Amino acid sequence: MEQVSSPVDAVADNQEHDAAGSTALKKVFVKTYGCQMNVYDSERMEDALTQDGYVKTDDINDADLVLLNTCHIREKAAEKVYSAVGRIRKIKEKHAKQGRQVTIGITGCVAQAEGKEIMRRAPAVDLVAGPQTYHDISKMVARAEKGERVISTDWLIEEKFAKLPAPTKKQTIARGLAAFLTVQEGCDKFCTFCVVPYTRGAEVSRSVNQILDEANRLADAGVKEVTLLGQNVNAWHGSLDGQKWNLGELLYRLSDIDGIERLRYTTSHPIDMEQSLIDAHRDLPKLMPYLHLPVQAGSDRILKAMNRHHTKDQYLQIIERVRQARDDMAISGDFIVGFPGETEEDFEETLDVIRQVKYASAFSFKYSPRPGTPGADLDHQVSDEVASERLTRLQALLREQMTEFNQSCVGKEIDLLIEKRGKREGQVLGRSPWLQTVVVSGDASEISKTLRVKVSEAGPASLNAVRI
Ligand code: 5AD
Ligand code: SF4
Repeated sequence: MEQVSSPVDAVADNQEHDAAGSTALKKVFVKTYGCQMNVYDSERMEDALTQDGYVKTDDINDADLVLLNTCHIREKAAEKVYSAVGRIRKIKEKHAKQGRQVTIGITGCVAQAEGKEIMRRAPAVDLVAGPQTYHDISKMVARAEKGERVISTDWLIEEKFAKLPAPTKKQTIARGLAAFLTVQEGCDKFCTFCVVPYTRGAEVSRSVNQILDEANRLADAGVKEVTLLGQNVNAWHGSLDGQKWNLGELLYRLSDIDGIERLRYTTSHPIDMEQSLIDAHRDLPKLMPYLHLPVQAGSDRILKAMNRHHTKDQYLQIIERVRQARDDMAISGDFIVGFPGETEEDFEETLDVIRQVKYASAFSFKYSPRPGTPGADLDHQVSDEVASERLTRLQALLREQMTEFNQSCVGKEIDLLIEKRGKREGQVLGRSPWLQTVVVSGDASEISKTLRVKVSEAGPASLNAVRI
């Protein structure tokens, strides 16, 4: 998973909420690692803090509060945190000499997994807060600023969503036309390689009403594209007026909201691909033809050892059903090579899945043993050399497929929601229905408009298009 920085728009849009009434507002710098759920969480923490007297800054040297929102999914995550803290400590010491306090907080999955260890090893850290405690972020920060070393790794997920303040309309507008909305957190699947069930806890779904409220608020602030997030987003379930809903039903309802033009969701698990979700792809023009459905491996033996609860054929059948519902679906996946015991024949099965599915995009990783997961204790760990060699072959095949997919878009006419300026003068950018970046000539006044365009050229990382 790539590193992402939270969108930082150092706009002082919280003046009216300045609880302390002071003029010198304190500044918060948030760095986000890992998945989109962390991006969403960072935004919500920023919302809470800016409503309690902070302004955002994108200059770490200028910050009074630095939050590192961390990811624990693969190796070296904790080490990355310690080296980042080492760098920030120097800033903290420099400012201390000038009588200025800098508070350092570690949030996210490393905080949850290694909170006590962080406090022991990194005395410069003032606050450690796990993902279920963010509704208390302002209070925890206030305590840390008074000199207390605060550690909070409780499991309070219902409270988190119920109590985190909603962003103001101004805050939402500042973030642009596309927004994330977390509908589900945690995981009960316990794939044997994965730390998520231990860092994010059991699967919890937000209520239908909470989600509809948030979606309506986003639409009201001009958001046109909403991506529903969850570690197992398609395991989301809820009820309204005595009726049970799953993600499919929720998407039908969200599709009725005026203003929201595009819906997406990620990340899904094959065993939760309910028929109503597949039907939604057939029925809802607003639901984009894109499915991120990790398979991880192709051999039934390895899938079993990974505790995936499905076979290769079952996965392929799901893809088939999804494509029958909508034939222009772009499929994306996650792959792990070198899981303990993986032989060359097992690996060939993974390549076979890839050949059959023809992926439009993908993330692929070498297996990394995570402390506390069953996979870490398995015999027959695959050597790094073999895993690297398999990863190279797998990525070469995926790259070929992505190029092919991009090429297959040339000549297609699409609706393009213009989101921002391009790198070059006179260009604007949007996303295709299949999530590729599309560049078209235009100017900033067209941002937020939907243009009808024809794809004219496919590059390695983006498409070019012309207006029709
Ligand atoms: N080693 C390598 N990759 C992993 N992932 C999760 N845990 C591990 C691990 N221990 C990958 C999976 C998952 C994605 C988010 O990260 O492919 O789908
Ligand atoms: Fe991890 Fe598996 Fe749960 Fe995904 S489904 S979060 S890979 S345990």
